Amino acid sequence: MFEFNQIYRRLESSMTEAAQFTQLLLTPPTVLDPQSPEPVPEPERAGEVRFEKVDFAHAGAQPLFAGLDLDVPGGAKIGLVGRSGGGKTTLTRLLLRMTDIDGGRIMIGGRDISRLRQRDLRGLMAYVPQDPAMFHRTLRENIAFARPGASEAEIRRAAQAAHVTEFADALPDGLDTMVGERGVKLSGGQRQRVALARAILRDAPILLLDEATSALDSESEILVQEALWRLMEGRTALVVAHRLSTVAHMDRLVVLDRGRIVEQGTHHELLACGGTYAKLWQHQSGGFLDESPAPAAPSAPPSPRQGDSWR
Ligand SMILES: Nc1ncnc2c1ncn2[C@@H]1O[C@H](COP(=O)(O)OP(=O)(O)OP(=O)(O)O)[C@@H](O)[C@H]1O
Ligand SMILES: [Mg+2]
Repeated sequence: MFEFNQIYRRLESSMTEAAQFTQLLLTPPTVLDPQSPEPVPEPERAGEVRFEKVDFAHAGAQPLFAGLDLDVPGGAKIGLVGRSGGGKTTLTRLLLRMTDIDGGRIMIGGRDISRLRQRDLRGLMAYVPQDPAMFHRTLRENIAFARPGASEAEIRRAAQAAHVTEFADALPDGLDTMVGERGVKLSGGQRQRVALARAILRDAPILLLDEATSALDSESEILVQEALWRLMEGRTALVVAHRLSTVAHMDRLVVLDRGRIVEQGTHHELLACGGTYAKLWQHQSGGFLDESPAPAAPSAPPSPRQGDSWR
């Protein structure tokens, strides 16, 4: 009778879960593949990104972008900065075509992204979201799914580069440790490292990092940054960061405020023009504006004098 009771309970919970999943699957997707999709852009152009007069409003919200233009040449490293709610995350998600835009177009390698198969489009990008999702599987599986078919050595290398092995090797099961439902057994910084390992393993021409190192302490951030600079070599990168020292060395910084690009330029150009960016930098560096070193050596980020976040 006891066992029968157990079986009945398992059956009951499976039925409930199945009902929930069925409901999810019944929701019709809003982003659809085109009838006759275009082929993926040629590899040598796959890193070119253009936003052309993009209009976008979140469902039921005020328009966020109106006629937004942004041109990112192949291989460029762009830092996206600005106040909370400025539209940085939305911009990266539009490029992934998580939602369709209301006007204008977004181009990758000369192709309109809505003309590509979603699978092909997303295959061009490695995305580290602001709040990376973890599956209740092992650390290894959580990294490996970024590129099905990756070899054990490649997974290990990615885990090493993102400093996942640093904490994984201290666990009794190493990379075979289960991370818990939604990764609850990992700290915020550890989850971010797993997400970075995924991006490294993915090996895609475009890199989208949304606050990817924000939960790391300054010391680990410097180490992980070095791995990221190596990863960015020869790729296009869009990097969102509140901690400005993280992006100060990028080729170009784009300051977004309430859906508008208010400033663009290198760290030094923006400091010199004394606008929004200069103010933010001043806040974070405690007023020591001239302490920023020349952006020559990407492996050495500017002195991390700033507070963690100005939000
Ligand atoms: N799913 C959504 N539905 C409705 N409004 C949204 C949604 N996601 C974001 N917004 C709104 O769009 C605006 C831009 O949000 P977004 O997340 O792009 O900002 P952000 O620059 O990434 O901010 P943060 O620095 O805090 O991450 C905000 O006003 C936000 O409230
Ligand atoms: Mg965001």
